[in-house]
Amino acid sequence: MSDRKARLSIDGSDEVIELNVRSGTIGPDVIDVTPLTSKGYFTLDPGFTSTASCESKITYIDGGRGVLLHRGYPIEQLAEKSDYLEVSYLLLNGELPNAKQKADFDATVYRHTMVNEWVKEFYNGFRYDAHPMAMLCGVVGALSSFYHDSLDIHDPEHRQITTMRLISKMPTLAAMAYKHSIGQPVMYPRNDLDYASNFLYMMWGNPCEEYEVNPVIARAMDKIFILHADHEQNASTSTVRLAGSTGANPFACIAAGVGALWGPSHGGANEAVIHMLEEIGDVSNVYSAVRRAKDPKDSFRLMGFGHRVYKNFDPRAKVMKETCDEVLNALGVSDPMLDIAKKLEEIALQDDYFIEKKLYPNVDFYSGIILRAIGIPLNMFTVIFALGRTAGWLAHWHEMLGDHSRIGRPRQLYTGSDVRDFVDLNKR
Ligand code: SDX
Repeated sequence: MSDRKARLSIDGSDEVIELNVRSGTIGPDVIDVTPLTSKGYFTLDPGFTSTASCESKITYIDGGRGVLLHRGYPIEQLAEKSDYLEVSYLLLNGELPNAKQKADFDATVYRHTMVNEWVKEFYNGFRYDAHPMAMLCGVVGALSSFYHDSLDIHDPEHRQITTMRLISKMPTLAAMAYKHSIGQPVMYPRNDLDYASNFLYMMWGNPCEEYEVNPVIARAMDKIFILHADHEQNASTSTVRLAGSTGANPFACIAAGVGALWGPSHGGANEAVIHMLEEIGDVSNVYSAVRRAKDPKDSFRLMGFGHRVYKNFDPRAKVMKETCDEVLNALGVSDPMLDIAKKLEEIALQDDYFIEKKLYPNVDFYSGIILRAIGIPLNMFTVIFALGRTAGWLAHWHEMLGDHSRIGRPRQLYTGSDVRDFVDLNKR
């Protein structure tokens, strides 16, 4: 650790508070403010825009340069050369697997894809029109009721078993939510199919006929899983870490992450982008949409634009846009939504408002168009995001437990009433 110091002097006090400054491998240095409490101070940082909640080795984002690294590997290279299970292995273990490690990891995932038959009863308890994210949230948490043999978070073997179960079963649970929402029978996973193909088979296969997965769609699906796999301390990952710091079981922690991801400012944005493009309706309406997005009095925002960290292109959006073109061309599909999206991007990126505020397309801007093109229904978009992010959530959960983190418990600036006595009802 470097011996660099930050020195804090506060009006009205003669004391100069010395704080350690720490450097990471790359990225901004951090000022360790933990001693402040003993000096009678807290820091205040709503939204955690300037707060590092932990030390991590998993993912690094350079928002200014539009760089995203998973264990040091650029997302562009992983999206092009790797597959989702290999990226999951990398996130969880810190290194790319060799041939045997990859074969063993994949085989383990493929042999745990089924869920307990009683899990189907959970889905039968949901209304036919329940949002698939509501179902996923509920069922992932409920899984803990089936696995009493692996809930000891202090047992590395239990942690590993649960990790493999969650990575294996998320596609099954996701597809079950879809099948429930369309009133079709559940398709059991097939262990002879790769991860993405198996998911698509469970989504679109049915017991009455053979279903052949389109390899172009399967590859696009796998790439979408990769692009959503992890992203530093985003809201849902921070939720998983905070839940995990209480000692909650991993199924409960991942369910908490699913819930946090659902919001339209986070993982729900991919669904919101399509609603926005539908509302814009035609390329000719794009200018007025940009005007509305800039109007502080109008709550309308360009969904899929902007990011807390990226102040340049989200590298995932670039890969997603390329994949969009590939998939639409391969399927011979033309989608007017894509024309609207491209026009929106072109106009927004030339507009001073978006340039000044450094608002660029994020991962959600194009993902929805690909998902539409391959036939994924709108209400399943965020479920797909959750499916891909499961590997990242689990990697951070492991890392947090490995740090023997204390329970996460932020403090506050209290601006409510000072102490006062109770007033009897007849005197109010
Ligand atoms: C994801 O954290 C992650 O890493 C998330 C994620 C991941 O992989 O985990 O990358 C996934 O969540 C991507 C983001 C998806 N959300 C959206 O696309 C929703 C639309 N975007 C915004 O709501 C917003 O940009 C956020 C939520 C993404 C970021 O919000 P911030 O960092 O709190 O920024 P802000 O809301 O304070 O905006 C800064 C300024 C504001 O104007 P001023 O108050 O300074 O005048 O930019 C404006 C905002 O009004 N602004 C937008 C805008 N986003 C921000 N104006 C118009 N359209 C937008 N989309």
